[in-house]
Amino acid sequence: MKKIITADNTESYLNEEVQETYHSQTGAVEEALKKYALPCQIKEVAKSGKIRILDMFFGIGYNSAMAISVALEENPDCQIEVIGIENDAEIVSKIGEVNPPIAFFKHYKKLKDNLEFKEGNVSVKLILGDARETVKSLPQEHFDAVFYDPFSPKTAPEMWSEELFKEMYRVMKKTAILATYSCARLGRDNMAKAGLVYDDGPCVGRRGPGTVAKKWINPQWMKK
Ligand SMILES: C[S@@+](CC[C@H](N)C(=O)[O-])C[C@H]1O[C@@H](n2cnc3c(N)ncnc32)[C@H](O)[C@@H]1O
Repeated sequence: MKKIITADNTESYLNEEVQETYHSQTGAVEEALKKYALPCQIKEVAKSGKIRILDMFFGIGYNSAMAISVALEENPDCQIEVIGIENDAEIVSKIGEVNPPIAFFKHYKKLKDNLEFKEGNVSVKLILGDARETVKSLPQEHFDAVFYDPFSPKTAPEMWSEELFKEMYRVMKKTAILATYSCARLGRDNMAKAGLVYDDGPCVGRRGPGTVAKKWINPQWMKK
């Protein structure tokens, strides 16, 4: 793994085996905010006093660390639970080698030694293993937000499958929002097969839109 600096001057890594970066090269920290925390309406949910986030394909944890920071800024008393899913202990160990401008990230350094920690009202737990297996242990209708951040559909089509999106459907609350950086057909078709309704997410940098999805039971989200 090779450290890189992305266009917003924040650190990420290049995975030389799959020849993909862990974050958008247009800005790693910008992506965590604009492609995940904002479209999942973390601020708004934080006002309710409780938020549960599933950080799929956790990597070095920028997406959930950013969401926690945004939630605590909005409501310092908010109870926050994060569960992260990741299969590569080596990328998790890189948390010790990066210093993104994300307020809560300093606490994520604890994950190098322990796969879970509590800090004030925040609990973070990392489950290491293949997502296709580990997600089966997650409780149903539990999460307010799902950050879905695997390698690309081209590199890792098995992470964009109907089966995995069915698991996402199972663990999402009725009001939950799933966000991902990709607008690829494969992911969107399999979301729809799994019962999720999708729409364009934000465009960040020069790239195409991301995708946001909800359970079909929210009629206002039905695709026109
Ligand atoms: C695009 S990166 C995610 C970056 C991450 N969200 C971050 O902020 O650092 C994709 C991640 O998926 C992980 N991954 C790949 N295959 C996996 C699998 N079968 N199960 C769980 N995680 C997997 C990789 O190790 C990598 O960390």
